[in-house]
Amino acid sequence: MELLTKTLFLCLALTLTAADPVPAPDAVAEADDGLPHRCDDVEFDAITPDEKGIMFFFKGPHLWRGFDGDAQLSNESFAELDDLHHIGHVDAAFRMHNEDNVGEHDHDHIYFFLDDQVFSYYNHTLEANYPKAIADDFPGVPGHLDAAAECPKGECTADSVLFFKGHDVFVYDLTTKTVKTKTWDHLPNCTSAIRWQEHYYCFHGHNFTRFHPVTGEVNPGYPKDARKYFMKCPGHTHGDHSKIPKCSEMKLDAITTDDDGKSYMFAGALYMRLDTERDGLHSFSITRQWKEVQTGVDAAFSYDHKIYLIKDDNVFIYKGAAPYTLVEGYPKTLKEELGVEGHVDAAFVCPAENTVHIIQGTNLVDVDLSATPRAITKTTPLPIADIDAGSCDSHGVNVYKGHHFYHYESATTLAMSKIAPMPQDITHAMMACQE
Ligand SMILES: *[C@@H]1O[C@H](CO)[C@@H](O)[C@H](O)[C@H]1NC(C)=O
Ligand SMILES: *[C@@H]1O[C@H](CO)[C@@H](O)[C@H](O)[C@H]1NC(C)=O
Ligand SMILES: *[C@@H]1O[C@H](CO)[C@@H](O)[C@H](O)[C@H]1NC(C)=O
Ligand SMILES: *[C@@H]1O[C@H](CO)[C@@H](O)[C@H](O)[C@H]1NC(C)=O
Repeated sequence: MELLTKTLFLCLALTLTAADPVPAPDAVAEADDGLPHRCDDVEFDAITPDEKGIMFFFKGPHLWRGFDGDAQLSNESFAELDDLHHIGHVDAAFRMHNEDNVGEHDHDHIYFFLDDQVFSYYNHTLEANYPKAIADDFPGVPGHLDAAAECPKGECTADSVLFFKGHDVFVYDLTTKTVKTKTWDHLPNCTSAIRWQEHYYCFHGHNFTRFHPVTGEVNPGYPKDARKYFMKCPGHTHGDHSKIPKCSEMKLDAITTDDDGKSYMFAGALYMRLDTERDGLHSFSITRQWKEVQTGVDAAFSYDHKIYLIKDDNVFIYKGAAPYTLVEGYPKTLKEELGVEGHVDAAFVCPAENTVHIIQGTNLVDVDLSATPRAITKTTPLPIADIDAGSCDSHGVNVYKGHHFYHYESATTLAMSKIAPMPQDITHAMMACQE
């Protein structure tokens, strides 16, 4: 069931490319329901995703669930939040990332901080023995916090939580249960903070600033207006509002998983990470990660710590981790790079292999990537045509055609098959499309 709650917000693309705001549609008549409206210059007290990746925004006794929709009383979602202490607001909140610490059973729990107390919820249910004093759970972390965010190992040096109070940041190491204090005077005072899709955001007023979780460094271009990125507000969009595609209308251009396990699907000008269900599945403009690839891709594959993107006659090779960098001298032509000519429909490399399997029309073309120069080693006719994309992992090969995919045990089975297997449907769980 968890997978079914994944959500896709094509319109909330946190693109780094500037796009002019579109003109305001006719002002939306605001219902006089006594509820706050998040587009009205709201400064959030706290923001956190829950264990399903749904984002919650808090202000006073209210919250907003997800990036769209009306306010509701916080105690409708988290029963004990207001009533117990009559505080009427949350100071800070975060979702725990603590998978590796044996004996701790708090991974994906969400923590709320109210004055000197902490509440731990899982599945929207308050855990036994909560609320507690902050000092009991997070020794060294002060009360009356401003903001908090998870920071997993790899992004911080150890699984940590960042707590903000004024310009001070308390970095709480979950393994050693110790605190290091930093002062980031250059960052605005955050009233709420989140980690989302491996990025860190400090919210202040209706603005937000992206920062580096270890150094606090801020890239140029911030603050930005949260109403353009983290919610749907009339007159505050920064791009077009693409609709969530129906699963029955899905059409991929390419799919690949890099050597770090980051899995990407490409369709039109957008890409989507398929392995980020903890934060929901979201689409972004391809140029956000691969800035030279301006008009979409035909095929993609990963090999030797590099991602190959093919568009028309061009092969772009990217190295490193996201954001990826184009290898010098690229793009090159298909002929020059792979010894192949003509339109490429799909391409994939199976784990621990040095062959890229390229689908061109009804042919499967194998190219040895370890040879110099690279050249075709084999061409096999296929029993299916019009393939859009292909991928290979330890479970086998999937080839995608419209809203269907076909599964094969291996590239050899695909090459030897005389008839196509039963098509399977692309589902919401796979691609966050509308069922
Ligand atoms: C939620 O809080 C409001 C006041 O903030 C209170 O009137 C209401 O009874 C509470 N609801 C529940 C279900 O506890
Ligand atoms: C989550 O809570 C709901 C009711 O609040 C319950 O029906 C469900 O079984 C719970 N799920 C888990 C995994 O505990
Ligand atoms: C930010 O926090 C500091 C305390 O660290 C406080 O002195 C200062 O007034 C705050 N700034 C604003 C603009 O609220
Ligand atoms: C938001 O940022 C803009 C600049 O991008 C700045 O002019 C404005 O004062 C900021 N507002 C708040 C409330 O921080």
